[in-house]
Amino acid sequence: MKRELTENIPCNKFKHHRNIQDIWNNIKTYTFSASSFLGGHPRKDGDEETIEKAKTVLADLVKWTETNSVSLVEAALLEHCTSMRARLDPLLHSLCSPTVDSICAEMVDLADEYAKRLLYEDPKALAKELFLWDSKAEVSVVVRPHRSMNGIKELIMKYDQSEDVQQLNQTHLTKLKELFNLHCTKPEAFESSVWCLLRRYKSFFGLDRFEGFGLQAALPPGAFQMLHNEFSVSIESFASPLNCYFTRYCSAFIDTDAPFGSLGSFYNFKPKSGSFEANPPFTEELMELMVSHIEQLLTDAGDSPLSFAIFIPEWLDPPTPALVKMRDNCKFTTREFVIGENAHKYVSGGQHNAAPHQRMYNAVHGTHVFFLQNEAGKQKWDPTVQGKEQRLANVAHTSGSPRPLPLPPSFVSPSLTRELMDEITFT
Ligand SMILES: C[S@@+](CC[C@H](N)C(=O)[O-])C[C@H]1O[C@@H](n2cnc3c(N)ncnc32)[C@H](O)[C@@H]1O
Repeated sequence: MKRELTENIPCNKFKHHRNIQDIWNNIKTYTFSASSFLGGHPRKDGDEETIEKAKTVLADLVKWTETNSVSLVEAALLEHCTSMRARLDPLLHSLCSPTVDSICAEMVDLADEYAKRLLYEDPKALAKELFLWDSKAEVSVVVRPHRSMNGIKELIMKYDQSEDVQQLNQTHLTKLKELFNLHCTKPEAFESSVWCLLRRYKSFFGLDRFEGFGLQAALPPGAFQMLHNEFSVSIESFASPLNCYFTRYCSAFIDTDAPFGSLGSFYNFKPKSGSFEANPPFTEELMELMVSHIEQLLTDAGDSPLSFAIFIPEWLDPPTPALVKMRDNCKFTTREFVIGENAHKYVSGGQHNAAPHQRMYNAVHGTHVFFLQNEAGKQKWDPTVQGKEQRLANVAHTSGSPRPLPLPPSFVSPSLTRELMDEITFT
């Protein structure tokens, strides 16, 4: 968390550039943000020397941008920019470090406090504060088409004279209905279950329009089809009812997601055999925890075949610990390769209320693919077989068609699910 917050100082990472003008714009945003940061930074004892050094570097950068013409070649511009940032960023980051530390500590304390109150105090009082669902309240949920956005449906929950409106597109409403029919035997609870689900994920995403999208982005359908056909994958280790491809998956919230097929948190999921896909939220702590959990599962599986196809970002600056572990220090890694930046796509984290043309986006980072398998898993689903790696990289380049509706028989096969379920134990 600390690293992610710090990386946004003085501004977000440089945006992907299409031309030299974009690089100049990035530099302008950076110098403006660095200057505002230094201007507004509260002066504390011991900071003066760092502030003066930072101001000198920033002045050099501003002078350089003013004296160099727009016609400078792209490579030279980028090189200069990188070297200036390498000088200035550490100074700014050391100035903000105590503030970032206290924000992280406050967030941990708040999460801890709410978790304790949920467990030990009156959940109803807390529900009011957090706007949790009170299952005994008199509520009604109505579904109606959005007045001006074609293909978007609104779910309106009426509660104590007030209303709350959640939106999703028709494709996802149909998909949720299909999942619900498969996994839940109370058809009358469909609308309210969808409303709860949307409400929960809205809070999870965050309040800004595109906030949280990155944590919910999914592999393209073509990649899932290929993993299913060639590696027998039929369960996602990290998903939500909104972004899942298969009808069985692990997810963050078993209470809202189980009626739509969730098996609960991946960290409580203990299969003894089988072949799984894992595209975790791109958060360092969760990715590291995922690697430890998978290593433990592979150790415990003994001679039963167990396999994980894992997709994480190619973060090398600095290297993300989960990547380093799987690349350099994991006896279960049987294959790894990188699909380059801007050479593959993801399905947007906002796919459930996005228009069809906004469904896919280009990955501006590389994706590092790892196969972690025990010996029997490698025998059964060998990723080194010629052509497999290339085929996976190829399907990741294309958008693929959306997840088919209704589902093809292979994705709903009760026998497949039952077979796997028999082998799954929960804590
Ligand atoms: C990057 S998306 C994966 C999208 C898609 N299912 C895929 O595999 O490509 C990561 C998903 O993991 C979910 N998630 C978060 N914590 C989780 C947990 N403890 N167990 C399982 N899933 C979790 C997030 O809500 C999010 O939907």
